[in-house]
Amino acid sequence: MKRLMGVLAISLGLSVLAPAHAAPNGGAGKGAPVTGSQCLECHETEARTHVYHGDCASCHSDGLNHAKAKEPVAVPAGRPESAQCLSCHESDKRRMHFLIAEHNKAGVKCSDCHGLHTPKVKSLNTAMEKAGKTTALCATCHQDVLARFSMNSHHPVKEGAMTCASCHDPHASKQASLGSRTEQCTKCHQAVRGPHVFEHPPAAEDCTICHDPHGTPNKRMLQAAQPVQCLQCHSLPNRRHGQTGSTSTASASIRAEVVAGAVLRDCTSCHAAMHGSSTDQHLRH
Ligand code: HEC
Ligand code: HEC
Ligand code: HEC
Ligand code: HEC
Ligand code: HEC
Ligand code: HEC
Ligand code: HEC
Ligand code: HEC
Ligand code: HEC
Ligand code: HEC
Repeated sequence: MKRLMGVLAISLGLSVLAPAHAAPNGGAGKGAPVTGSQCLECHETEARTHVYHGDCASCHSDGLNHAKAKEPVAVPAGRPESAQCLSCHESDKRRMHFLIAEHNKAGVKCSDCHGLHTPKVKSLNTAMEKAGKTTALCATCHQDVLARFSMNSHHPVKEGAMTCASCHDPHASKQASLGSRTEQCTKCHQAVRGPHVFEHPPAAEDCTICHDPHGTPNKRMLQAAQPVQCLQCHSLPNRRHGQTGSTSTASASIRAEVVAGAVLRDCTSCHAAMHGSSTDQHLRH
């Protein structure tokens, strides 16, 4: 009797959901859906956890043969490849480039991230609880990246203010997810956004030339501490900054005041407008 009630509940549930079975682009179209009721007597849990995905055979392509077999365990029901998911999901904007995405190329399937019956990330430890399930999921494979967020200067991912998906779309190609990264950065950091009358070329080109958004030991997430960060592109500025007098090409004003080496260690104490300036060609304000 208990079983019968279960069957009733499920078939009712599925008939209410029936319109939702119409897949985003028409679905796999393999004839009548294989609903949970045909599987329920042996798989109570899985048959119940479905909301959108009521047609078992759209993912378990051999589900019916498996269910009818004398010994079901001997006939695999089939596990869904990403292509099966895409038969319904490729028309939705965020999924349509999945086939050329880095994850797909590396053999990561939809079902490696999406638990279709049970969540992929079950129990979270205390630190990850704050950061949330998305970040915990990413960290199951990208532990090394997560570790960087413990460095001195980092984005507040472990603190829970943002997740890995604030910057990355796990479904997108490298180009789509990272190509426009400067634009992604300025989406949140609007004060840094150009165009400026006096650009600092690297800032207009790519924020990650100077910053590592995952975290660094240096303040402001700089790839290297000043002045090393700056000296990678600018030759030792001593001559320009009035230290050796005669060969200097700098203006009289700066040649006149001898700049101490110690001061030069912090270039931005004078060149504060590292992301461009609307008033000063030497990027001081
Ligand atoms: C949208 C795709 C999809 C649909 C539809 C689907 N499943 Fe699954 N199923 C999966 C995936 C993927 C797995 C592999 C386990 C995992 O990665 O979560 C799985 C695993 C299972 C398992 C094995 C459980 C385990 O822990 O290994 C059973 C049993 C099962 N599904 C039954 C069903 C039944 C019954 C239905 C219909 C009500 C159904 N599935 C519909 C995707 C689907
Ligand atoms: C008569 C009982 C029975 C019925 C009905 C049945 N199964 Fe199974 N199924 C089993 C047994 C036994 C196993 C192996 C042990 C386990 O994983 O629970 C299994 C395993 C599975 C698995 C995991 C192994 C694999 O092949 O990937 C999936 C998925 C699955 N069944 C899907 C389905 C679907 C979908 C239906 C309905 C169309 C269904 N089953 C109907 C008994 C049944
Ligand atoms: C038969 C068509 C069909 C197949 C096959 C299918 N889906 Fe879906 N899926 C849907 C529909 C319909 C929805 C609900 C509408 C929407 O969000 O597009 C949905 C919703 C989802 C959602 C959103 C759930 C939410 O709570 O927002 C995820 C995630 C998902 N599917 C993943 C998958 C994965 C992973 C696979 C392959 C293992 C898959 N789907 C296979 C039709 C399908
Ligand atoms: C590397 C992990 C990963 C892979 C692989 C993956 N997804 Fe997702 N997916 C996520 C995460 C995380 C979210 C929710 C967070 C976000 O992006 O906003 C999500 C969200 C979704 C949603 C909900 C709607 C949305 O965009 O917010 C759907 C539908 C979906 N994925 C389908 C798929 C399908 C279909 C595949 C395979 C073609 C797939 N996913 C592959 C991680 C993944
Ligand atoms: C099942 C394991 C797995 C999960 C879960 C996973 N990834 Fe990946 N990811 C990989 C593999 C494998 C690669 C390719 C090799 C590499 O670059 O490490 C990759 C590559 C990447 C790349 C680099 C792409 C490039 O352009 O080089 C990014 C970014 C990324 N993943 C982000 C994420 C995010 C964000 C999440 C969580 C939503 C996530 N990953 C979840 C396995 C995974
Ligand atoms: C503030 C934005 C931001 C956040 C948050 C972020 N990333 Fe990234 N990530 C980037 C950028 C930008 C790159 C490209 C860096 C480059 O090419 O120098 C990148 C590169 C990557 C790469 C490939 C190269 C590498 O450094 O290994 C992986 C994998 C990756 N991120 C995973 C993650 C994961 C996992 C999380 C969450 C724990 C995360 N990212 C959080 C912006 C971000
Ligand atoms: C989703 C929003 C978001 C995106 C996208 C984002 N950031 Fe951030 N960023 C933040 C938040 C929030 C903080 C922390 C602010 C604070 O602590 O006051 C931060 C802090 C920083 C800091 C350090 C500021 C300080 O005071 O130490 C730097 C540098 C930075 N981000 C650079 C980047 C770069 C480069 C990118 C692109 C790869 C990026 N951010 C993308 C939200 C974002
Ligand atoms: C040429 C190297 C360089 C590039 C490229 C660069 N930054 Fe910075 N950024 C710095 C330095 C140096 C600081 C620290 C300034 C200080 O010490 O006050 C900084 C500080 C920041 C801060 C902290 C708050 C502030 O305004 O001082 C944020 C946020 C930031 N950068 C975002 C970005 C974004 C977004 C981009 C890309 C559009 C970018 N940076 C490109 C060198 C750079
Ligand atoms: C005490 C203030 C001060 C400090 C510290 C400072 N600068 Fe300057 N810098 C100036 C002034 C003023 C000028 C403009 C000189 C002129 O009028 O020609 C200048 C000019 C420059 C120029 C353009 C001059 C040219 O000839 O191309 C560069 C590049 C430069 N600084 C880089 C740096 C770097 C890198 C550091 C850190 C190692 C640094 N500065 C530290 C004050 C400073
Ligand atoms: C990736 C290379 C690169 C890095 C790193 C870099 N710059 Fe520049 N910077 C340039 C280029 C290219 C120009 C424009 C051409 C020029 O004037 O040398 C420029 C211009 C400048 C100017 C204006 C020059 C003038 O005419 O007055 C200053 C000042 C300056 N940078 C300071 C810095 C400081 C300080 C840092 C470290 C926080 C830094 N730069 C890091 C490439 C770089």
